[in-house]
Amino acid sequence: MDFELTETQRMIRDTARDFAAKEVAPKAAELDKNERWPAELVAKMGELGFLGIAVPEEYGGAGLDHVSYALAMEEISAACASTGVIMSVNNSLFCDPLVKFGSEKQKKEILTPVARGEKLGCFGLTEPMSGSDAQTMATVAKKVDGGWVIDGAKNWITNGPHADYIILFAITEKDPTTGKVKHTAFVIPSGTAGFTKNARDHKLGIKAAHSCTVFFENCFVPDDAVVGKVGEGFKVAMATLDGGRIGIASQALGIAKAALEKSVQYAKERKSFGVTIDKHQAIQFMIADMGTELDAARLLTWRAAALKDKAVTDKSVRHSMESAQAKLYASEMSTRVAHKAIQIHGGYGYSTEFPVERNYRDARITELYEGTSEIQRIVIAANLLKG
Ligand code: CAA
Repeated sequence: MDFELTETQRMIRDTARDFAAKEVAPKAAELDKNERWPAELVAKMGELGFLGIAVPEEYGGAGLDHVSYALAMEEISAACASTGVIMSVNNSLFCDPLVKFGSEKQKKEILTPVARGEKLGCFGLTEPMSGSDAQTMATVAKKVDGGWVIDGAKNWITNGPHADYIILFAITEKDPTTGKVKHTAFVIPSGTAGFTKNARDHKLGIKAAHSCTVFFENCFVPDDAVVGKVGEGFKVAMATLDGGRIGIASQALGIAKAALEKSVQYAKERKSFGVTIDKHQAIQFMIADMGTELDAARLLTWRAAALKDKAVTDKSVRHSMESAQAKLYASEMSTRVAHKAIQIHGGYGYSTEFPVERNYRDARITELYEGTSEIQRIVIAANLLKG
């Protein structure tokens, strides 16, 4: 077992850290306050290769591994969790399923510009009445001559307002006797007739990462919009989320890392009872717990990312459980760490003058999207109890 990062992994982490410190962090409070989409940062991430980190170079990506992706995600998210999730959705939820299941034509014409950051992707699984129980979606695609006609709505679509493409999941078959359904994945350009978008959502945190509801009304897509095989869309969705959960775990690491760093800095400056508060054991114990939990979550996340790298060449490798464990622990850890960070800052922690209140609001979403903590526990338990 080797916990050392490779030279390339250190290089991508340092590049991300540098970009995050110089260009992302100075804007994070303003992006949050004004709920402003960070167009200039998204463009720069494209130039740096951060929007298609693990996509092969022949399809416009950086051709790096998923550990590098996790490292870069942590650094960007430490500076701004909104910018982090924009990156994560493009990498994990859009590029990754096209790498794995896309046709050669989809890879050349759609994946390549998205991985380069010239275009942006999003992912449409969740619906107003179907979140955790993803199979129960109401969106349907009916087979017609030369393609499919889609009807339905998807909500909480991160990147939705700005995305050029969506990977969409719809029911394409229903057994009339058992009611059992089959799903299919499609890749659809924005601007397709019948595909419309609502105004963006307003949220507790990650305010600069815009999301919205999207609608499909009598929306025709050609046969070559199908991603993977007809009827196997649910597997595409689940396999995609196995990777996405590593991205969100890394985002949670970044938020917690930022909250811990700010707490250490504040504890060394703030005085009470005649000493700086880092001299109080009450504060030291909180810092100790924050650092220990952060490292534990990081190890779980790196293990899941390393397994995903193995799965690229060895199709027998699965990492559903490890990804779920990483996401479960990292997201709940992030909320706990941000909570303690506010405690250490006292009243100032509750004020928008200090960044830890943003960390607290941003951490909370990581326990919800790409599968709630309860869904991660279902996946973990199912794996532990099978056989
Ligand atoms: N990889 C490949 N196939 C998988 C799989 C995986 N990880 N997990 C399950 N499958 C397959 C199963 O083998 C099964 O196949 P068969 O029918 O051939 O046997 C099929 O999928 C159905 O599996 P289950 O019976 O386990 O499915 P289920 O209905 O019980 O649901 C679930 C499982 C884990 C609860 C799933 O519904 C789930 O993950 N729910 C949460 C959804 C979610 O994470 N949504 C997030 C939306 S994206 C988002 O948040 C984006 C954003 O904006 C940031």
